[in-house]
Formats: sequence, structure tokens, C-alpha cells
Amino acid sequence: MSQQNQPIGVFDSGVGGLSVLRAMRGLMPEEPVVYFGDQGHVPYGPRPLEQVRAFSETITRFLLDYGAKLIVVACNTASAAALHYLRDKFPHISFVGMEPALKPAAEHTRSGVVGVLATPATFQGALYASVLERFANGVQILQHTCPGLVGQIEKGDLDGDGTRAILEDALRPMLDQRIDTVVLGCTHYPFVIPLIERIVGESVRVIDPAPAVAKQAKRLLEAQGLKTPAGGRAEVRLYTSGDVDAFISLLPGLLGESGPVHPVTWLDDHRIEK
Ligand code: DGL
Repeated sequence: MSQQNQPIGVFDSGVGGLSVLRAMRGLMPEEPVVYFGDQGHVPYGPRPLEQVRAFSETITRFLLDYGAKLIVVACNTASAAALHYLRDKFPHISFVGMEPALKPAAEHTRSGVVGVLATPATFQGALYASVLERFANGVQILQHTCPGLVGQIEKGDLDGDGTRAILEDALRPMLDQRIDTVVLGCTHYPFVIPLIERIVGESVRVIDPAPAVAKQAKRLLEAQGLKTPAGGRAEVRLYTSGDVDAFISLLPGLLGESGPVHPVTWLDDHRIEK
């Protein structure tokens, strides 16, 4: 197989990365993809960064075994824990990672107050500290970790009472402080944008970084001569370390397409078996 026709590797702790994959499929459906959702370990957010780094390295090796030509770390938490490390460890391959989109938020806010929703690990990482330092000048940033929200989304509960209560807790105090922008710093959260918009109202802008990340992946492939020629629709191979049937049932709603999902098992020595 020529390198151009090899797949893009995409991973997340679970279904969150499907928000990025959805944007990638819209932009470049001809690209084959292998997606790994580490649902055996979700959520990553409350875990120590070192542990998330170890998971991320193992998953990267799994994707490289598939001949991945580019890896999209479609998880803010894994990016916070491991992006620099992965780039050092695997210098022959390019990585696209996620960071909270504070730059466009700070550029466009009028009230000067921006809310950021992300996991505890993302807020702890050096990546977030550097984003704050570079882009938050003069802007007041309000943060919330939305405890339990990733679990609700993993269950497919996108607008039930429990999910709404978590988001109300996060967003009401921010609205009281006059936010006019909400940055989604976790790839699970775009799936609850309709609910977020109902809570914050039309005057508050909600930033989902997925389209920008998909464009960045496309630019990188083009620059490296790795882009699959346009035309046609390639397959997505999906793997989960969790429950296969549960994953399959969420696909039409979250990804907008279905496909077979393959189970994988983690071994104690940090290998994954197909
Ligand atoms: N989707 C992830 C993120 O972007 C991880 C959420 C979690 O597993 O806690 O941060």
C-alpha cells in the first residue's frame, strides 16, 4: 500500500474523539481512518497525567501497527498529558493535538470574560498553562471541570435532566459573571452543544475546535504529500477497549454513520491485543 492510502490514526478516551472524526469525515471523506476509543479507561480527566501518558503511548503504538500516516490525538486530556512526549518519542510521524481554543475566544470576546469547560487533567497540564500565557492577556478566564459530564455522554445521554444539571452548575455562575464565549476544551462536549446553547442563549458564542483540527490534519497531509487523492468514501475502522455493542449503538447519533466496531484487550504489560 502506498503511504498516501494508509489510514489516519485517531484516538480518545472514548466517544469524544468522534466529534473530531465527524469533522474530518466531512472535510476529507476519502481518507481511511483507524479510530481507537479507550472506553476501558474512560474517563481520563480525573487520572494522573503520567497514567494518561502511558495509555497514550500504548495506543499510539497500536495505531502505528496499522501503518497510521498521521496521528490525531482527538482528546484534550491526552494532548495535555502526552503530546510533547509522543512527538519526542515518535519523531518520524506527525501528531495533531487538541488545546483549548482560547486564541479565537480572546480575539472575539466583547465582555472580556470567557468560560472554558475541560477536564481536571487538561487544566493541570503545561499545555493549558502555555495557552493561557500566550492568549489570555487582559481577558478574564473562568474554568469548570463539569464532573460527570463525560460519563453522561458515554451513556448517550445528551439532554436528560442529569446532563442538564451538570451544565447548569458549570454555566450559570459564568453567565452571572457576563461570559460571552464558551470554549469547549474536551472533545466529548461538542455533542451537548444544543443543550449548552439552550442554557447560555443566543448571545453567547460556543467554540468547538473540531473543524479547525480537521483542517490542520488536512494541511499537514498535503504538506507531507500524504493526502489520499480526493473522491470516494474510505472506511473507518473502529476499536474499543470497552463494550462493543454500547459503542455501536452511539455511532449513528454521534458520528452520523455506522460501522463495525472491533474489541481490543489491554494486557498488563501495556500492550493491546486485537
Ligand atoms: N474527550 C477527552 C478530552 O478531550 C477526555 C475526557 C475524559 O476521558 O475525561 O479531554
